[in-house]
Amino acid sequence: MSATIYIPGDSGALALGAEKVAKAAAKELAERGIAAKIVRNGSRGAYFLEPMVEVETAEGRRAYGPVKAADIKGLFDAGFLTGGQHRLALGDPEDIPFFAKQTRLTFARCGITDPVSLEDYEAHGGLDGLRKAVAMAPLDIVKQVTESGLRGRGGAGFPTGIKWKTVLDTAADRKYIVCNADEGDSATFADRMIMEGDPFVLIEGMTIAGIATGATKGFVYIRSEYPHAVATMNKAVEVARKAGVLGATVLGSPNAFDIEIRVGAGAYVCGEETSLLNSLEGKRGVVRAKPPLPAIQGLFGKPTVINNVISLASVPIIMDKGAAFYKDFGMGRSRGTIPIQIAGNVKHGGLFEIAFGLSLGEIVDEIGGGTRSGRPVKAVQVGGPLGAYFPRELFDTPFDYEEFAKRDGLIGHAGITVFDDTADMLKMARFAMEFCAIESCGKCTPCRIGSTRGMEVIDRLAAGIEPEKSLALVTDLCNTMKFGSLCALGGFTPYPVMSAITHFPEDFKPAPARVAAE
Ligand SMILES: Cc1cc2nc3c(=O)[nH]c(=O)nc-3n(C[C@H](O)[C@H](O)[C@H](O)COP(=O)(O)O)c2cc1C
Ligand code: SF4
Repeated sequence: MSATIYIPGDSGALALGAEKVAKAAAKELAERGIAAKIVRNGSRGAYFLEPMVEVETAEGRRAYGPVKAADIKGLFDAGFLTGGQHRLALGDPEDIPFFAKQTRLTFARCGITDPVSLEDYEAHGGLDGLRKAVAMAPLDIVKQVTESGLRGRGGAGFPTGIKWKTVLDTAADRKYIVCNADEGDSATFADRMIMEGDPFVLIEGMTIAGIATGATKGFVYIRSEYPHAVATMNKAVEVARKAGVLGATVLGSPNAFDIEIRVGAGAYVCGEETSLLNSLEGKRGVVRAKPPLPAIQGLFGKPTVINNVISLASVPIIMDKGAAFYKDFGMGRSRGTIPIQIAGNVKHGGLFEIAFGLSLGEIVDEIGGGTRSGRPVKAVQVGGPLGAYFPRELFDTPFDYEEFAKRDGLIGHAGITVFDDTADMLKMARFAMEFCAIESCGKCTPCRIGSTRGMEVIDRLAAGIEPEKSLALVTDLCNTMKFGSLCALGGFTPYPVMSAITHFPEDFKPAPARVAAE
């Protein structure tokens, strides 16, 4: 049997030199006359170990990392193809604590299989959910998704089954499934990882959504900054079409479903569902007022399911293992697992899938290993640029939609950015306003004008000009934005601003006091 070497083709691994590693491995194989297959798998998500190279041995997979091209010769000399000892040896990847502590449901195959091999996908449980779905009545599929407790992973946490039911119940000659793969939040990469590492799971989830609601066409809207995800998705759609997974008769059933990949032009607001629909229709990415809900009048005025990548990619396992299996994980109204993305100034950055309920402190200190700089953690921003900053005093907050809301925060797309004690929270508050000003679609006044006025007031605060008045003004402005904005861009920008002011008041002292304190 010839050996198999796994070298990730994931963007994160590529950024860390995986392409050079793959070339060096191919060269070494040729020079040594060894017949081995190189599979470009996805990443398992431990970016601090990437590029993580794995080999299939008689005892199972063995990992080595982080590997540089210059290490390849030494790895061959050490007999790594049969699991030989080497300073980069990590042993069985499943035993590496970062992986061993996870519960991988949605990401079960990511980093393990060949992303574009449908055969490999099926050998690892792929298509089992869709096979069950094609034999079911649409309403029963919707019921199963509803009963699983799955909520939208794009940010708002809306129950997926309820959204699907609205589309199912709305009569129309054409319906659509739109997958939101804009993934604009800071510190997030779960959508990209799954599209690059296990694209068929998204295709399968979208197809199930189509059968459940009566939609025959799906679009995946991917941000332009994700060229590798676009390429992998296009390839996987082609493979799925050839195999009859997509097309006029899905898996030989009477259901038709096909998917098209579309690339966004790059605007944070195009992740907002109605802007995204405008963009897909070839219009400017401006927010539409709701109602009508996209589920009733969405893409081209037709009933449309719009779901995040992870929401859709979580559906196959729900269909395969059942609603009760999925619902068994988690806490409160946050059921199932969530792929937490740990980034920023952190030692062990990466994607960690686990049942809801882990505390923020466990995630940052134990899983993330604290800061990369070695300095104390000062704050973590959870939920992207519109998420609140949490101080250490709130690290007992469990990862749960309602628990975060109780503390004036949000989970969003589950991205966490870690900051050490050198972070200036006034600058971070200003950045939130600046981000909103740059990304605002301009449709409503509180966001369009408020964000710019917000920057100005925070600048006055930094300069020590009428500090009390400026602080009252920024608080008042935040209230206006929160309650008067049309969408969550203007409506949630106050979260990072107000959390910075509330939890880190020392950073908002008048300029002379701040200088004296430094
Ligand atoms: C400014 C803004 C940006 C957003 N960006 C994204 C995004 O990149 N990806 C995403 O899935 N949802 C994003 N959302 C949320 C979507 O509007 C929508 O709630 C989501 O796609 C619904 O899918 P879900 O129910 O599966 O989460 C954004 C919302 C706002 C207000
Ligand atoms: S809040 Fe901002 S992004 Fe949203 S509709 Fe208003 S102007 Fe546009």
